[in-house]
Amino acid sequence: MTLVRFVSADGSHIQEVRGSPGERLLDLAQAHGQPLEGTCEGQMACSTCHVIVAAADFEKLPGAGEEEEDLLDLARHVTRTSRLACQIHLSEALENLTVRMPGGSHNMQGR
Ligand code: FES
Repeated sequence: MTLVRFVSADGSHIQEVRGSPGERLLDLAQAHGQPLEGTCEGQMACSTCHVIVAAADFEKLPGAGEEEEDLLDLARHVTRTSRLACQIHLSEALENLTVRMPGGSHNMQGR
């Protein structure tokens, strides 16, 4: 099981949960009541599953594909470590993954 830390948009609330290897971050977030719509359910047709990944964790993720980059361009409150939660699959390498919900004025990259 992989420990994941969800940080609220304003940074005031942190929820720690565990997910199974291979589980999509979007599914884990929704199962624990995080405010990610994921309207297209991973069909790469929306950007409502956008999360902001902690800078240290961003480096551990496989790179985003062109399709994901294009969708991120449409998302609101995008930062340089933004990713789509439907494209992130949990693994041991992502232990302690920390992601923030977009929309707050504070972020983890100091931008
Ligand atoms: S759920 Fe639509 S792109 Fe991720």
